[in-house]
Amino acid sequence: MLRHSKREAGKPRVTSSNLAGKRLNNQIRISETSCNSGLLFYPAYMRILSGIQPSGALHLGNYFGMMRPAIELQEKGEAFYFIADYHSMTSLFDAAERRKNTLDVALDFLACGLDPKRAVFFKQSDVPEVCELAWLLSTLTPMGLLERAHSFKDKSAKGIPINHGLFAYPVLMAADILIYDSNVVPVGQDQKQHVEMTRDIAIKFNEQYGQTFVIPEPQIKGETAKVPGIDGEKMSKSYGNTIEIFGDEKALRKKVMALKMDSRTPAEPKPDAELNLAIQLLKVIDASVGREWEERLRAGGLGYGDLKKQLFEVYWEHFATARAKRAELVANLDYVNKVLADGSAKARAKATEVLKRARKAGGLE
Ligand code: ADP
Ligand code: TRP
Repeated sequence: MLRHSKREAGKPRVTSSNLAGKRLNNQIRISETSCNSGLLFYPAYMRILSGIQPSGALHLGNYFGMMRPAIELQEKGEAFYFIADYHSMTSLFDAAERRKNTLDVALDFLACGLDPKRAVFFKQSDVPEVCELAWLLSTLTPMGLLERAHSFKDKSAKGIPINHGLFAYPVLMAADILIYDSNVVPVGQDQKQHVEMTRDIAIKFNEQYGQTFVIPEPQIKGETAKVPGIDGEKMSKSYGNTIEIFGDEKALRKKVMALKMDSRTPAEPKPDAELNLAIQLLKVIDASVGREWEERLRAGGLGYGDLKKQLFEVYWEHFATARAKRAELVANLDYVNKVLADGSAKARAKATEVLKRARKAGGLE
């Protein structure tokens, strides 16, 4: 991995892009269209990091926006994935529910393909060093930067009471990313601003105290960056508009069949088929099937009932393997807990090293 030293005058800042530039011989080329992070070259030993809050049931937006891209990336470097339980404390106030959700996220991620032999998988709060780093970073975070954060502004606009943790959320997220020397952060579109803030804070720290942190890049998959919910708005646990990945078949079928469509007759051609919610979801789950049904809808002669039935079938089938895997894991919770314990130990070792670097840079040691 990258060795850090105080930046000497005139030396370039370390970013994952110019780090990549130095490793031209063993880098991996990725397609420009599959990613809008601006990162065309990955460094050979890149750290990939992402987190998900244990704040409710996993849904299609979480899976296609973050989990699947993260699982794909575990082959391409050292992946660190964690359950953001500290973050969940900003909006979930039931301890038993947090405990249950935390286990659920562990089961979900493993069932969907996270391979603990390749990726370090852990619980955020098992690495309390991240809170100390968040404090160090917060002292260089302008209030104005936090005031511009969409996540807190959106919640505030919806009348959700804002606590200090929610306001300071991006600083803890910056600490999550920086404490592991992360190069690439796969997330959905809604988290882009948070990664940009992380970059701003890291650059400020490096300028103030000398080269300390790697500057990370977000990786956002264009086609699944913002999966719509059953109301057409961004799918989100906090908006109650989700289609869950794991759940009761009957209830989920009912939810899909209840998707609101317009009142045009089946026979009518639908020139605006790409705007249809069922088509959009179908394209997220299976692009080629989605495009085929989009053309059928455009041409006319296809009823919305048949379309929604097809959506349900494709969706249900897509997660059949994960569902079976999850059932196995539920019967083997000792294994799941061991994965998290091992992951925490590895993550904590790295975090301790980076925190020490930051403490030294800041004159605490
Ligand atoms: P939620 O908004 O449901 O609470 P989280 O904040 O826990 O979801 O997000 C976990 C990950 O899933 C993040 O990387 C986020 O960007 C991604 N994500 C959440 N909702 C969507 C969505 N509708 N489309 C694409 N990605 C999403
Ligand atoms: N804020 C992210 C979300 O709500 C979760 C998260 C916390 C995260 N820390 C992170 C994601 C660090 C990526 C990197 O989805």
